[in-house]
Amino acid sequence: MGFLVLIRAFLISNLLVFCSLPICSDASFSSVSASEIPEKFLNLAKSPEVFDWMVSIRRKIHENPELGYEEFETSKLIRAELDKLGVKYKYPVAVTGVVGYIGSGEAPFVALRADMDALSMQEMVEWKHKSKNPGKMHACGHDAHVAMLLGAAKILQEHRESLKGTVVLIFQPAEEGGGGAKRIVDAGILKNVKAIFGLHVSPGLPVGKVSSRHGPLLAGTGFFEAVISGKGGHAAIPHHSIDPILAASYIVVSLQHLVSREADPLDSQVVTVAKFQGGGAFNVIPDSVVIGGTFRTFSKDTFVHLKMRIEEVIIQQAAVQRCNATVDFLSSEKPCCPPTVNNEALHQYFQNVAGDVLGISNVEHMQPLMGSEDFSFYQEAIPGYFYFLGMKNETKGKFPSPHSPYFEINEDAFPFGAALHATLAARHLIEIQTKTPLIRDDHHDEL
Ligand SMILES: *[C@@H]1O[C@H](CO)[C@@H](O)[C@H](O)[C@H]1NC(C)=O
Ligand SMILES: *[C@@H]1O[C@H](CO)[C@@H](O)[C@H](O)[C@H]1NC(C)=O
Ligand SMILES: [Zn+2]
Ligand SMILES: [Zn+2]
Repeated sequence: MGFLVLIRAFLISNLLVFCSLPICSDASFSSVSASEIPEKFLNLAKSPEVFDWMVSIRRKIHENPELGYEEFETSKLIRAELDKLGVKYKYPVAVTGVVGYIGSGEAPFVALRADMDALSMQEMVEWKHKSKNPGKMHACGHDAHVAMLLGAAKILQEHRESLKGTVVLIFQPAEEGGGGAKRIVDAGILKNVKAIFGLHVSPGLPVGKVSSRHGPLLAGTGFFEAVISGKGGHAAIPHHSIDPILAASYIVVSLQHLVSREADPLDSQVVTVAKFQGGGAFNVIPDSVVIGGTFRTFSKDTFVHLKMRIEEVIIQQAAVQRCNATVDFLSSEKPCCPPTVNNEALHQYFQNVAGDVLGISNVEHMQPLMGSEDFSFYQEAIPGYFYFLGMKNETKGKFPSPHSPYFEINEDAFPFGAALHATLAARHLIEIQTKTPLIRDDHHDEL
C-alpha cells in the first residue's frame, strides 16, 4: 500500500467523521435531546413558520368540508403538504385515508391520529372562511385536528434524524359514525405500532390546558331499530286487530327498566328510544310500528349484555301483546364504537409529557363523558391515549359546543396541539428504546 493510498484513506475517514456532525447534514435538520424536546417543539409550533401555515391549512379545509369517505380534496391537500415536507406516506388507506411515516423507517413505531370528516349540517357562522359546501360543515373541529397533525409532521420532520424510531401519522376518514378507525385498523396500519395518541378540541377548557383521565373516558355507542308487527284494522273493532301501537308502547316502557332496574347504578348506561313511527289515521290500527334509539355504556361487557337484553325485551314484550318483532342493530349503516378506554401506563406518560409541554397546572383530570369516539377501535388493538385540548378564551367570546351550527375554532390552541403530538411521539420512541419495556405485557384495560 503506497503513501498516496494511505493519505486518501486518511482523508476519507476524516471526511466521514466530519460529515456525521450536524453541520454537514441537511440545513433544515436540527438535533434535540429528550429534555429539550418540549420547549423546543412548542417554540417551533408557535413560530410563524409553523403557526401561520397550520392556520392557512385549517381555513382551506374549513371552506371545503367533506363527509365520511368523501374526503378526497382534504386528503389531496394533506398529501400535497406531506410531499412538500418530504414525508413518505401510504395512500389510499380506508378509501381516503393517508398514513405518513417520519423517522428511521424502522421499529419502534408510535402513531398519532387526526380525523378528517365534516358533518352534514349548514354552517351559521358568517366569516371569511365559511363553508362553501351547502349543508356540510366542519362543526366538530376535525379541520383543526388535521392542521395540528400536519404541524406536528413539520416539527418532527425537521428533527427526523433525532427520532429513535418511526412516527406514524394517521389521517383517518369517517369518524362521525362511519367507523373510519376500524377500517384503518383492518388495513393493518397498527401492525408493530407500540402506542397511539389522539386529541379532540374542547370549547369548554381554557386554551393552553388539556384534560383526560385513565380508564374509561368516553362511552361505547350502539343503535337499534325494531319493527313491531301486528294486524291492522278498524279502530272501533280492536278485537279483530292485533295492535302494534300498544305493543310498542309497552316495549318503550320495558326498555327503560334495563337501566333503572337491571344495571349497576355505579356503571353508567343510557338507553334512549328516540324514534317511534306508526299509524297515520285517527280510526285505523296500523299493521306495524317502527321504533329506534341508541344505547351507551362504559365497558365492553356491559355493552354486549345491554345489547342482548334490548333484543330480548323487544321481542318478548311484543309477544306478550301477540305481536312479532325484529331487531336490527344497524352494524353496517351505523357501526357502533366501543368505549374509549385510556391505557393506564400511557396515562402516567401523558401526565409527564403534557406537564413538561404546558406546565403541570395545565394538565387537568376529567370525568367520563357519555359521548363517543371511534378512536376506541385503535385502543382495542393497541395501547392508546385520547385527550382534550383546550380552546376557551373568554376575552374572545363564547365557543359553542361541537355539532352546533355556530361552532368555531380558536386557532390559538394549534401550537399546543401540534407540540403535544410531536412531543408525545418523539419522547415515547426514546422511552421505548431506553426504558424497555415501557408498556408491560401485563397491562390490562377494561376492554
Ligand atoms: C308472527 O309470526 C308467526 C310465525 O311466523 C305468524 O304465524 C304470525 O301470524 C305472526 N303474527 C303477527 C301478528 O304478525
Ligand atoms: C385570549 O384572547 C385575547 C384577545 O384576542 C388575547 O390577547 C390573549 O392572548 C388570548 N389568550 C390566550 C391564552 O391565548
Ligand atoms: Zn363529532
Ligand atoms: Zn369529533
